Amino acid sequence: MPDTNDERDTAGGAPAPGEPTADRVRGIFSLIADKYDLFNILSSFGIDRTWRRAAVQAANLKTSSRVLDLCAGTGDLSLALAKQGRPAEVVGTDFVPEMLAVAEQKARGFSGRTKVFFSVADAQDLPFPDSSFDVATVAFGVRNLPDRAANFAEVLRVLKPGGRYVILEFSRPSFAPWRWFYHLYLRVVIPAIGGLLTRDRTSFVYLNDSIRSFPPQAQLAAELRGAGFTAISWEDRTGGIVAIHTAVK
Ligand SMILES: C[S@@+](CC[C@H](N)C(=O)[O-])C[C@H]1O[C@@H](n2cnc3c(N)ncnc32)[C@H](O)[C@@H]1O
Repeated sequence: MPDTNDERDTAGGAPAPGEPTADRVRGIFSLIADKYDLFNILSSFGIDRTWRRAAVQAANLKTSSRVLDLCAGTGDLSLALAKQGRPAEVVGTDFVPEMLAVAEQKARGFSGRTKVFFSVADAQDLPFPDSSFDVATVAFGVRNLPDRAANFAEVLRVLKPGGRYVILEFSRPSFAPWRWFYHLYLRVVIPAIGGLLTRDRTSFVYLNDSIRSFPPQAQLAAELRGAGFTAISWEDRTGGIVAIHTAVK
């Protein structure tokens, strides 16, 4: 079984299986927005919540922090940041309004000290001034960006000096039997659950392919270093199914 799956379909000009073109990604998330949370719970047995909690810890928030949560989707990380980290402000952004509509509905039930806002924005072209956030976060979003370098440049621009970027993303288990089982689960079980919930199995085949195409831990760290971040580190969770990278401006 190959460890990566990043060959592109050069013959017909169609995107390769795991390639995150903007149209494909918008199409998938606008279609599955109302089932996204249920899919997460069923497919990860609820472990995704513990991963987001670990990402909030990695963000090392202060009560004065202004936080930008990119690719915020239905708002689970934005709200975890607000509830657990209790910073001054969380701005959750995403380029699919249907996903943010679910986030806004959930945020109505939040009454903590943190101000929580959601707004439509492309993570590769951010509508915020230079040096305006203490922390930027992204959970399961970077993998869906056609141009990660553009995202890293934008995050460096909007972070204050010393600001921190926390990336929670699917990654590569190092223990081969666990990796084999995980890849089997991605290929067989994920499209089955997703197809049952949404009648759109194809989106979940993309999910498998995009995870298999994404760079492993050390390679993502090298990309962050190349972009100009410093003090880069990562921690694996659930045997490396996900990794949490932190990087400093
Ligand atoms: C897998 S969801 C993750 C949602 C949420 N962060 C979570 O933890 O559940 C990925 C999200 O990234 C968003 N996204 C993908 N590409 C984007 C882009 N270029 N700019 C902004 N959002 C994007 C999608 O619309 C989707 O809501």
